[in-house]
Amino acid sequence: MVKHFLSLMDWSTPDLEELLDKATFLKREHFSTGHPPVMRGKTLALVFQKPSLRTRVSFEIAIQQLGGHALYLCKDDVDMGDRESIADVVRVLGEYVHSIAARVSDHNNLLEMATWSPVPVINALTKHNHPCQAMADVLTIQEELGQLAGLKVVYLGSSNQDTARSLLFAAVKFGFQLILSSPEGFWMEAETLDMARAIAGEQVVQCVSNPTEAVQKVDVIYTDSWEGMGMWGKVSDAEATRRLHLFSPYQVNESLMAHAPKALIMHCMPANRGQEISDAAADGIQSRLLQQAQNRVHVQKAILLHLVGCAAA
Ligand code: CP
Repeated sequence: MVKHFLSLMDWSTPDLEELLDKATFLKREHFSTGHPPVMRGKTLALVFQKPSLRTRVSFEIAIQQLGGHALYLCKDDVDMGDRESIADVVRVLGEYVHSIAARVSDHNNLLEMATWSPVPVINALTKHNHPCQAMADVLTIQEELGQLAGLKVVYLGSSNQDTARSLLFAAVKFGFQLILSSPEGFWMEAETLDMARAIAGEQVVQCVSNPTEAVQKVDVIYTDSWEGMGMWGKVSDAEATRRLHLFSPYQVNESLMAHAPKALIMHCMPANRGQEISDAAADGIQSRLLQQAQNRVHVQKAILLHLVGCAAA
């Protein structure tokens, strides 16, 4: 049976901890001796139906630094689901490559890819979740704070989206508490909250509307683009104006940070500066945005090695 990386919820905590340890080792190795070419002859297809800077580049760099090769296929190249069925695309790709990292909007399409693919499929972001980003985030937190269990992370903004869901899955798996702080109408769906609480207990996730209350005594403040302002499609100008007003109290800025002067500031990027985060927060001493982006490379190396393995000696 082929193993995939679609959601943190599919993986056990020991396996995820092993990935984190491997990523830490690979980061150290990269900055000391460099890597031996353990993925020589291995190829990764990047099937991307949406734009990307961090995910695309970090996957390409990751496999290249391990001696392998990546192939970028954008929507116009493949036109998966229109020109050709999802099943045929992944079965044909499986004849050429050793793994596929896919960025598709609809999570069901990713699940269909995994159903048919003869090689591992990695979730490079769907509307549902973003597990590679979450692993880079927890690596960053662990590097900075030395642990994950028992920490308090607050997510400010629209919590019914991919990054918030992945952080909740990380909270379930790594034992930290996630506080969600959203305006009315933009909360994470009850089904996901209930699932997380059933597995990890009531305390794993809390919903606190007031952002000033939500950031009290937290270790990490996390934000992402507000719904309708990011890559999943724009809203009308009138609706955008309404949302800017509705979300403005949730902006991560100096005034909010005054209530959590020691908390790390995190954002998966791209950042809409002046909306969910101010320049002062994104660029200040509490910010770990660039460390998160760099850690994408190290965790994705660990994921690739786990799923695809090393070339024969
Ligand atoms: N954080 C993230 O996934 O960035 P990209 O959309 O640039 O890949």
